[in-house]
Amino acid sequence: MRFPAVSLCAALLAGACAVVPDRWPPVTGVSQDSADRGRQLAQQTCARCHAVGAAGESSQRRAPTFRALSGRYVSVSLQRKLTEIAETGHYDMPALLLHSDQVEDVVAYINSFEPQE
Ligand code: HEC
Repeated sequence: MRFPAVSLCAALLAGACAVVPDRWPPVTGVSQDSADRGRQLAQQTCARCHAVGAAGESSQRRAPTFRALSGRYVSVSLQRKLTEIAETGHYDMPALLLHSDQVEDVVAYINSFEPQE
């Protein structure tokens, strides 16, 4: 095959590709990989204050659980909020050195929860 990439694209567009790449179809909306990285990051970086999982209470009384955050913010505003927090901290919360990619991952993770207040 002389132009494998081109023919692969054509096949995908046609929706009739016999040999599909590993991660096809890409997830609609949130990428699972990104949410997975976000979960790891949250467990390492945020879990000492926030409840970052599907159950449990935050160890810092005032820190909202990530489940609650998913109901409180849509992704765009959550992303903005986290970028701001990463730079300046947030009241009792220290500034976090998060790369913008990491912010996206954490947002993907938080949004993977069913919204809940
Ligand atoms: C040292 C403890 C601590 C750590 C670590 C921490 N937080 Fe927080 N976080 C807090 C507290 C306390 C609040 C509540 C702040 C307030 O409202 O005064 C908070 C609030 C927040 C809010 C809500 C902001 C708002 O205005 O609604 C978000 C979002 C958040 N944290 C995300 C994170 C993420 C993501 C991480 C990890 C990358 C993280 N936090 C790590 C203590 C922490």
